[in-house]
Amino acid sequence: MDKFIIDGGEKLYGKVRVHSAKNTVLPLLAASVLTDEQVKIHGVPAINDVENMLHILSEVGCVIKRQKDCAVIDSSNAVSHEIPTRLTKELRSSVFMLGSVLTRFRRAKISYPGGCDIGLRPIDLHLSGLKKLGVEIVEKDGYIHCSAERLQGAEILLDFPSVGATENIILAAVKAAGITVIRNAAKEPEISDLQRFLNAMGAKVRGAGGGTIVVEGVERLHGVDYTPIGDRIEAGTYLIAAASCGGEMEIEGVPAENIAALLHKLRENGCKIHTKNDKIELYSDGKLKSVNLVETMPFPGFPTDLQAQYSALSATAKGATLVVENLFETRYRYAAELKRMGADITVRGRAAFIRGVEKLHGASVTAGDLRGGAALVVAALRAEGQSSVMDLSHIDRGYAEFEGTLRNLGAKIKRVRI
Ligand code: EPZ
Repeated sequence: MDKFIIDGGEKLYGKVRVHSAKNTVLPLLAASVLTDEQVKIHGVPAINDVENMLHILSEVGCVIKRQKDCAVIDSSNAVSHEIPTRLTKELRSSVFMLGSVLTRFRRAKISYPGGCDIGLRPIDLHLSGLKKLGVEIVEKDGYIHCSAERLQGAEILLDFPSVGATENIILAAVKAAGITVIRNAAKEPEISDLQRFLNAMGAKVRGAGGGTIVVEGVERLHGVDYTPIGDRIEAGTYLIAAASCGGEMEIEGVPAENIAALLHKLRENGCKIHTKNDKIELYSDGKLKSVNLVETMPFPGFPTDLQAQYSALSATAKGATLVVENLFETRYRYAAELKRMGADITVRGRAAFIRGVEKLHGASVTAGDLRGGAALVVAALRAEGQSSVMDLSHIDRGYAEFEGTLRNLGAKIKRVRI
């Protein structure tokens, strides 16, 4: 198991070019089985979630080539409709494979992905949407068996704008007979990226980014060579670190509108932010004032995936901050660890009340999930003295070259094998 040793108190200066977004690369990889021609995706980050998804593709029979930061997938010999259990446990987002495997093979078998570190994460909206498209679903012995003589377009209204359910339904509808309309669809930029990717393969998807998506089924899809959007959560994590520690940072590869809710809060905290095309420049003196309230919401609201990192920033902002996590049930596991560093944070259900303190002190803390782990790094970079952040397996799921990028920005951080 690895840990980070961090000597806090350094300001951060420099440029960061983000990788292709984890939460867009994963559904794009799932979509690559929709064609038997070659699919090439650029900027693919070397992170565990992506490696697991590539394993799943190879286990269903795809041939994968990793060329530098590209992934080349040839699924002409894909034969299995069974998504391997051990990898489904490793990677919840393997559930995205349901829609594309059903489109390819008219049947799919997946073990129940179950909950994870941040909540129950049911898939009822995925399954009810697939049923509307004519999929027979039998849940037995912890497996979900899906079959569809033919996939038939349908009108689907999502009770909640679920990102994964929206993506799964699109993947099952792209070659269905007729038209599918998805109302109350998720509006995240990753959905618009999936739409662009599929249309580049010859699909007919429109409306992503708005609440209603229309998919007109087509006969076949062809190969594609594609560069996904930049990772807005990776960008947001580095911006929060620079805001909290103080310094100057330029992020490349993410348009400001993809993290407008965060930038709005950071300006309220007292940061100076200039944006142009896909560049975001931030200047902070490290002496931030708190905002009163941050509520996580589906896009374009404040992203739940930046809640933990922003709470770490709020721990040393002057004043009090009420954080409300509306998306997931248990996304405050990092709070107890922040308290070990001297943070004044009280959690009650979905709310966390944070009273800013003068300073945090170094401590030995343990990551409990991906974004909570990133939050502990943000706090350790700001804290006085030395911290160690344990169990980096969570962080390694979603951040490529994390410590190297931070070191290039002036942070005193190193990875140690224990
Ligand atoms: C995606 O997860 C992201 N993962 C998550 O990022 C992100 O936090 C989340 O969207 C919200 O933005 C990927 O894209 C791989 P949801 P997903 O379905 O699709 C409830 C990270 O850190 N729900 O939009 O699982 C669910 O319980 C990860 O990178 C149902 O009730 O999120 C949750 O409360 C974490 N039934 C809410 O919707 C369903 O069938 C949002 O979930 C599906 C979801």
